Amino acid sequence: MPYLITIDNTGEMFRCKEDMHVLEAMERAMCRGIPVGCRNGGCGACKVRITVGDYVTRKMNRAVVNATEELQGYALACSVRASRGRQRRAPGRADAGDGAQVSSQPNRRRSRWH
Ligand code: FES
Repeated sequence: MPYLITIDNTGEMFRCKEDMHVLEAMERAMCRGIPVGCRNGGCGACKVRITVGDYVTRKMNRAVVNATEELQGYALACSVRASRGRQRRAPGRADAGDGAQVSSQPNRRRSRWH
């Protein structure tokens, strides 16, 4: 099921399949709201804070996302996928830190793009 991803900082929205990382989906949609670097979890350029939605991540490099940040919802867009169900849940809105803020929700077939 595709998800609708919103980059809160820029207002950009794009669809992301469940088996696709958020950064890859953003690039395919020709959006630019999340900085792109190495694309493999090493540089931290794509660090985002996920404010809404369930997600799963690959193991993240602690040099770029430490354990505290991970608990606060920070993740690497090149390593995170939107998901449904018993996964990590974004911890809700709080003060903005560094990096883009991202939210995701299931993209219902009848929903329209705003
Ligand atoms: S692009 Fe380098 S960590 Fe994601």
